Amino acid sequence: MVPLKRRKVACPPAGNTGTTGGGDAGSIKFPEAVLFLLERKMGASRRTFLSQLGRKKGFQVEDAFNESVTHVVSENNSSEEVRRWLGSQNDQRAVHLLDISWFTESMRAGQPADILDRHKLQDESAHDNEVPLFSVPSYACQRRTSLANHNTALTDALSLLAENAELSKEEGRGVAFRRAVAVLKVLPEPVTSMAQLRGLPCLGGHTLRVIKDVLENGTSSEAEATKNSQRFRALKVLTGIFGVGAKTAERWIRLGIDDLQQLQQSGQTLNRAQQGGLEHYLDLNQPVTRSEADAIGEVVGRAVVSVSPGARITLIGGFRRGKPTGHDVDFLITHPEEGNEVGLMPKVVSWLQSKGFLLYQKTTRNSYLESDDGPAQPSSNMDRFERCFSIFKLDTGEGTRATEASGESGGEAAGAPEADPAPGSQVLSDDEQNPGAKPWRAVRVDLVVSPISQFAFALLGWTGSKLFERELRRWAGHEKAMSLSSHALYDGNQRRYVRATSEEEIFSHLGLEFIPPSERNA
Ligand code: UTP
Ligand code: MN
Repeated sequence: MVPLKRRKVACPPAGNTGTTGGGDAGSIKFPEAVLFLLERKMGASRRTFLSQLGRKKGFQVEDAFNESVTHVVSENNSSEEVRRWLGSQNDQRAVHLLDISWFTESMRAGQPADILDRHKLQDESAHDNEVPLFSVPSYACQRRTSLANHNTALTDALSLLAENAELSKEEGRGVAFRRAVAVLKVLPEPVTSMAQLRGLPCLGGHTLRVIKDVLENGTSSEAEATKNSQRFRALKVLTGIFGVGAKTAERWIRLGIDDLQQLQQSGQTLNRAQQGGLEHYLDLNQPVTRSEADAIGEVVGRAVVSVSPGARITLIGGFRRGKPTGHDVDFLITHPEEGNEVGLMPKVVSWLQSKGFLLYQKTTRNSYLESDDGPAQPSSNMDRFERCFSIFKLDTGEGTRATEASGESGGEAAGAPEADPAPGSQVLSDDEQNPGAKPWRAVRVDLVVSPISQFAFALLGWTGSKLFERELRRWAGHEKAMSLSSHALYDGNQRRYVRATSEEEIFSHLGLEFIPPSERNA
């Protein structure tokens, strides 16, 4: 608690009475905490939004500072600045000077959070004053995450640990690392000291240890050890085969299979997808460029209008977010007349097949059903669209080496096998070992068909990033009692589905500021 001398502080927004304003004030559940949010640096609209949110959750939030206030919450202010702002006159009462992180955590908990050291505005030394503090909302879907990243050393290390956790079926740990990565991605400048991380959400003890290691030593010993471990390398190589997931890779590793050659020799039966994955291993592990994605888009677009003139395709996934490369290309297909999308997928696939564009394809049928009682579980309605997983044969032009056509990024997979041979590359076909010799390359392509009534949800759900989607659903569930899928939005309070014809509408239903695709790279 900080002894505070009080003067009458004139800060209410114009036209306000100066007490617990706002028509939305719910009943006060926590009379022991009387909050005041400092507008300085937070901005008036955010302050109003947060104040209303607090009241909805049963907190007493004052519009003007007064003697009943017990908790002063500010964002991006030092304790020095807050004290100066509040003035230094008569009052000797004690008031908590708190960072916004205390407020957001309290909102999430639905009750006043215990006040920890990291919530308190610290009395800074002169040195601390020079260190900028960052303020980041806790859900990735509340933030704008562009492709720019000022902390790649940190995010690379943590992403690798996230990937290892995911490949090891430790989903919780994977998500925790992914959330931390996403927070670091939005910081406007490189982190140089641990002190700068004060008040940031989603940074747990394990993550902070990794960050500290990188800041002090330039690399994370844990990430390095993981990257070099035989197990991680084997998991990467084996799941690099299209059709092989973490579970299968794990089973093979337990049988002593660590690379492609050992897999081949083991006599394991592979399904059709895995056979295709192995056959086109190098191509499929070479990043797809934007121009390759556009070239494929042209072909798929031709297929779609040939079989159904009014139908249209939209490039989704990472490319819609502006990524320069991807691991695959994703397209969403729809028809402006509801019902006309039925039967579209088999026709598109036949067209592509008849012209020799598909090296492999598997189509799953639409299994989405809207129940009057709402979705059974938040996740149960995911990915129920009619969908085609394929390996696409993309012409790279005569005499064009695949490595040249796709720029530098192709070098790693296709170039100089003597320097760093792909594990077990002996098992790859001649074409695969010398991909520059053939005038085409294999590319993973996903097609999804959605009825127009679900198009906005499908578009939002398939644009990603994966973490952004996960956070949207978490926000919907935890903050709004709603359930969001790639098909629909269900309001659990009103017990009804909420329709939308654009992404903007969905964000608005969710009470979120619209984030354009290029800023969903969380
Ligand atoms: P991708 O795995 O293709 O990721 O899924 P990406 O963001 O395009 O990145 P690349 O391809 O690795 O460059 C695209 C989006 O589609 C949704 C996810 O939300 C993901 O962000 N998706 C994907 C699903 O909803 N279900 C799935 O089964 C797969
Ligand atoms: Mn993709």
